[in-house]
Amino acid sequence: MTDHYAGEINIDEFEVLLSEEDIQKRVKEMAEALSSDYHGKRPLLVAVLKGAVIFLSDLIRNLTIPVEVDFIAVSSYGHATASSGVVRILKDLEQSIQGKDVLIVEDIVDTGLTLNYLVENLGSRQPGSLKVVTLLDKPDRRKVEFEPDYCGFIIPDRFVIGYGLDFGEDYRQLPDLRVLDE
Ligand code: IMP
Ligand code: MG
Repeated sequence: MTDHYAGEINIDEFEVLLSEEDIQKRVKEMAEALSSDYHGKRPLLVAVLKGAVIFLSDLIRNLTIPVEVDFIAVSSYGHATASSGVVRILKDLEQSIQGKDVLIVEDIVDTGLTLNYLVENLGSRQPGSLKVVTLLDKPDRRKVEFEPDYCGFIIPDRFVIGYGLDFGEDYRQLPDLRVLDE
């Protein structure tokens, strides 16, 4: 039992972009920044399902401030609506965010359409404050202007898998981030 992927999924062909160590180190730094910036507060972390789940779970375990957690799920817009940027909410928050310090937790900013929509949507619910933390950012792919408040890594325009990010629902379980070249 040396290779726990043996016979199940073969990941050796995928180049490692960020090692587990790189990611864990950066997530700790991000948690320190958030613990400092939100000192004395109790922010509500809203993770975008499903990709951000692994990042959220590592992030909150490194925070020294109290937090609440909630989840939101949105439809991927697909080709038909990509230009309009219309995103549909598949699962909404369980609670009102009025007056709360809301921090959207996302895995990656790509075109920017999802976060652009979420910031507008959640922003209309009168939160006390609203910011975005993303593990990854692919600025080369933007279709709309969008700048996250906190970002772990800026990465090149390549399709990545692992650490919560999937390809056809596969590979979310990888502890590192790899490149899937088609
Ligand atoms: P957007 O294009 O900024 O709206 O990003 C939408 C979603 O696409 C992200 O939240 C990810 O779930 C997904 N995505 C974008 N780039 C990648 C990638 O390289 N690998 C896996 N998922 C991706
Ligand atoms: Mg996502």
